[in-house]
Amino acid sequence: MWSILLICIGVSRVGGFVGGLSKLNPRWSNSRIKVPSNLCLTPDSIPSPDSIPSPKKKKLQPFLRFLEVECWKKREFRDLEPVLRAVMAACQQMNRLVQRAQTDDLYGVADPSGGANVQGEVQQQLDVLCNTIMLQSLCGCSDAIVAVASEEEDLPRNCRTDVLKQQSMGSTPATLKMGQFVACFDPLDGSKNIDSSLPVGTVFGIFRVPPGTTADASEKTFLMRGDSCLVAAGYCLYSATTVLVLTLKGSGVHGFTLDPDTGLFLHTLRDIRIPPKGHIYSFNEAYFHDYNHAVQRYLNALKSGNSATMGKRANARYVGALVADVHNILINGGIYGYPATTAHPSGKLRLLYESAPMALILEQAGGAASTGYGRLLDVIPQSIHQRVPTFLGSVENIYEIDQFHEYYTDENDEKTKEVQSIDYYIQNMA
Ligand code: F6P
Repeated sequence: MWSILLICIGVSRVGGFVGGLSKLNPRWSNSRIKVPSNLCLTPDSIPSPDSIPSPKKKKLQPFLRFLEVECWKKREFRDLEPVLRAVMAACQQMNRLVQRAQTDDLYGVADPSGGANVQGEVQQQLDVLCNTIMLQSLCGCSDAIVAVASEEEDLPRNCRTDVLKQQSMGSTPATLKMGQFVACFDPLDGSKNIDSSLPVGTVFGIFRVPPGTTADASEKTFLMRGDSCLVAAGYCLYSATTVLVLTLKGSGVHGFTLDPDTGLFLHTLRDIRIPPKGHIYSFNEAYFHDYNHAVQRYLNALKSGNSATMGKRANARYVGALVADVHNILINGGIYGYPATTAHPSGKLRLLYESAPMALILEQAGGAASTGYGRLLDVIPQSIHQRVPTFLGSVENIYEIDQFHEYYTDENDEKTKEVQSIDYYIQNMA
């Protein structure tokens, strides 16, 4: 009798406990789990996208409105407004191409007989299409940009006399005033990722030619120090979401997510500030033995928990597309690195249309960018396709990799110099 009573009390307690849990999470209560009678949906029973209730939209400012206000606030950017509007439209178009690459037979090499671009890399069909879209957007909507240089082309091109004519877009009347800007871009960074549906991106930088200089399509026009001449930079990341990130020098870094319902880029990331330090490192460690001793020692320190910035929490992430890897660092903090290797003694990344635009974005977001031996934006390019060892990220992480370069040389792999304080570093880098 007593034992029956105790069992009843026990059951009711358990029931009460489960009931309590079910208040926290309905899945813990059997009575609330609804198992569909037929798990196989027939085409008719699949809900149409319209019948799925859409969550309430946030009130976010569209990119074009943001641009209008920023360019109104800062006179020096007014000429760039139409250009950046066109770049936004180009990102929308390229996003569609990337999304449809496999279903519309757009992916694969552009020239099956083996055509490679000036870098010796095999061009994908999408590289060629995106290159055309970027050329049109930078040159076709105003006379602000005089000449453009692309990763996909050997030499820079004059917007009026070359690009617009070739694209049958007519040419800008010769009476219009001469623009003050040139632009560099990589239309589809990491395009090898397309085959496996991984993220890719577009990167661009806009340089203002120094006063008294006539901008033309000669290579010389493009060989400007990023620190003084690079005035705007951005990228478009085609990933789980499509994000356009832009900096107009002095106005911070802003991110706009493409809303798939309206097709608008909306201001989701306001005044992005990279954390002062982070735990993510993004390097291709397959080249570990090809890196210099400073970088090898640094990576070993990260993995053994001996890094001053990461401690025991170092975390590796590498997508293999600059835009995706750097965006991750920008949002979460840490360090992205493409150091020199024995095969590429200057690294792999191109200064003018990959490393410098990213460096400006990182610096404007409160981070830093270095070659390991000095500030990246201080490098004066010698040619348009010049490569540069590149480290981008949080100030403290970049400080640390620079300190490893100060400490260790390849000659004797021994400590060679005294470490500077981070204050000294910040003063000299910023
Ligand atoms: O353009 C260079 C690039 O495609 C970057 O986007 C990317 O970060 C890098 O190459 C990847 O190179 P690797 O395969 O050597 O790591």
